Parts: sequence; C-alpha cells; structure tokens
Amino acid sequence: MRTITYDRQGDAAQVLRLSALPDPPAPAAGQVQVRVLARPIRPGDLGGVEGFPGGPPQRFAAPRIPGVEGMGIVESVGEGVRDLRPGQRVAVFPVPGTWSDLVTAPSDLVVPVPEGVSDETAALMLVNPFTLLSLLRAVEDAQHGQTGPVVQTAAGSSIGKVVGAAALKHGFPLVNLVRSATGAEALRQRFPGLPTISTADVDWPEQVQDAVGGQGAQVVLDAVGGSLTRDLAALLADGGTLISYGRLGSGSTPLESLALTPRALTVRGVSIGQWLTRTPEQRAEDVAFATRLAANAPELLEVAARYDLADFAQAIGHVRRPGKSGTVLLTSPTS
Ligand SMILES: NC(=O)c1ccc[n+]([C@@H]2O[C@H](COP(=O)([O-])OP(=O)(O)OC[C@H]3O[C@@H](n4cnc5c(N)ncnc54)[C@H](OP(=O)(O)O)[C@@H]3O)[C@@H](O)[C@H]2O)c1
Repeated sequence: MRTITYDRQGDAAQVLRLSALPDPPAPAAGQVQVRVLARPIRPGDLGGVEGFPGGPPQRFAAPRIPGVEGMGIVESVGEGVRDLRPGQRVAVFPVPGTWSDLVTAPSDLVVPVPEGVSDETAALMLVNPFTLLSLLRAVEDAQHGQTGPVVQTAAGSSIGKVVGAAALKHGFPLVNLVRSATGAEALRQRFPGLPTISTADVDWPEQVQDAVGGQGAQVVLDAVGGSLTRDLAALLADGGTLISYGRLGSGSTPLESLALTPRALTVRGVSIGQWLTRTPEQRAEDVAFATRLAANAPELLEVAARYDLADFAQAIGHVRRPGKSGTVLLTSPTS
C-alpha cells in the first residue's frame, strides 16, 4: 500500500515522504480494515509533523504516518464485528495513520456514512462537528448561564464558519475576526448577520469593543494565539474567558502580561484529542450530531481542493495558501 511517513519532526515539505509498505495484516478481533478513499489535511496534522513551536524537533525510532480522520470502504472485519460489513462506506476518527491507502481501526471508531452523504463530505464529517461541540460546551461553561458576547479569531477557517453558523442558529452574539480585508469581505457576504472585523485595520480592537457593546467580550474563541493573545485578552470583560484551541499565529505572549489575577480572567485549552475521554453514550450523541450535520448542511464541510495521496507536497502548499476556503483532501483510488 502507499503511505506517507516521517521519522523526524520538521518542515512537512522536508520530512514527509511517499513510501510503499506491505499491506497491514488482516484485522484482529474487534477491528476493521478500511480502504481509505479521502482524508483531510488538518492544521493539527501538520502541527504533529512539524512539532510544537519553540520545542525541540523529535526523532522517532519507527516511522509515523500522519492523519487521524478519513473516509473509505470497509475492506474486511475481524472476529466479533457484527454491525459493519465489507463494502460499506465509513468514516473514521480518531484513527492514527489515515494518510495511507489502508488503515486498521477499532470498530467503535468506525462510523457508517449515511446514504446521500457524499464521499468528500464524509471525509470531513467527524472532526469539525466534534470540535464545534467541544467549543460550544467550553463557551457554555464560561458563560455560567449568562449569554454575553463571544469573539472568535480565524473566523474564515473551516471550523470558524461552522461556529458562525451555530451562532446564527442558536442566537448567541458572535463577532468574527479575520486577518485581512479580503477575508473580512468574503465572510460578511457569507454571514451578513454577523459583525466581521479585520485585524489588518489599525483600530480593530476599538471596532471589536464597539461591536460587543463596549462592555468587553465574555468569551474569546482563539485559534491564532502567539503574539495576538495579549490583544485578545484585552478584549475580555473582567471575569471573561479566553478559550485557546489552535496555534496559527507566530510569536508568544507571556502569561504575566495578561493580568489574569486582577481581572479574574480564565484561560483554557480545548482539544479534540480529548474526545475519547467522553463516555460511549456521549460519543454516540456526538456521532449522531455529526452525521445529521453532514446530511443536512454539507456546505459547512467545504472541500477546498483534492490531490492524490502521492501529490501530498502540492496539497500541503495549497493548505498554506492565504485566502483558501475549505479543507484540502488527499485521495486514493477505490482499489
Ligand atoms: N483544538 C482542536 O481540537 C482543534 C480541532 C480542529 C481545528 N483546530 C484548529 O482550528 C484552526 C482552524 O482549523 P481549520 O481546519 O478550520 O483551518 P482552515 O480551514 O485551514 O483555515 C485556516 C484559517 O486560518 C487563517 N489563518 C491562518 N494563519 C493565520 C494567522 N497567522 N492569523 C490569523 N488567521 C490565520 C486563514 O485565514 P486566511 O483566510 O486569511 O488565509 C484561514 O481562514 C487551526 O488552528 C486548527 O488547529 C483545533
């Protein structure tokens, strides 16, 4: 089978390589082997390859394969797997190594794709809806029953647009932040009902304060971090919460500069990496939500472009293109 591997962290263009590996063995009891047809390139996948900013790049004794999400066709099932059968369309998460033609997964992490949901939508069907649910739970925790203004950064990202749609649906006051005037214009057209501000404007903090009514934001949902964190904390009302869930930006902000104690601010992280700590019942509810979203609002799971798995370097170049809309997929043939 074809697979993408890396044995040390570093620039993805330098450390990733296309390899031919023997097909994995037949699935063991309780496992399912999936022929992966499409998988997304997520910022988190590239973060794993490149390592944490400022941290020492790691070397690995055995090659690693990126990717934790994807969709495909069940190739074979192990003993005791009754509810999945060869030929069935499925999505998987969190299953390490989806940047391969074949992946083996525990059956409880394999989700049948509903009829009518396209392969491309199915490839994106789990991570962002689960992330949305995690972010909404974190916002609810931060609000203590009182709905105040929420500001989100990287609002034109795939997940940012899902959050925007949720804000309009549930009626919570959301202010969108993006990094460019063109990005702001595109998002205003998409969500005319939500204020959208570009951090390229010198007076963007004042624009945000006007948009939140001068009282400060109750919550900031942030995927940028770095040197922007200090400005974002300044947007919060006293007692507010900064929820960090991504690291798209550069630079850093010392914790001490945030005036956490005098302003009684909270900073917390949210990671989809914690999803397996949810109970089986909670996970089943999340899966039901994700499959409903894929069936009813596939436009929220937008594909930016598709590339064959072998063309991963071009695909990664596309992921990094400013102004890209949607998620880039890596594809494999059906056999
Ligand atoms: N914690 C979790 O569990 C979790 C789960 C899913 C996603 N995430 C995070 O959510 C973020 C978005 O992911 P995605 O898949 O939705 O991304 P995406 O669709 O690839 O979109 C990336 C967006 O980030 C913007 N951006 C890139 N660099 C930026 C910078 N330095 N400053 C401001 N904006 C910047 C881009 O703006 P332009 O349009 O201007 O290019 C684009 O809108 C990522 O940080 C990702 O790691 C976290």
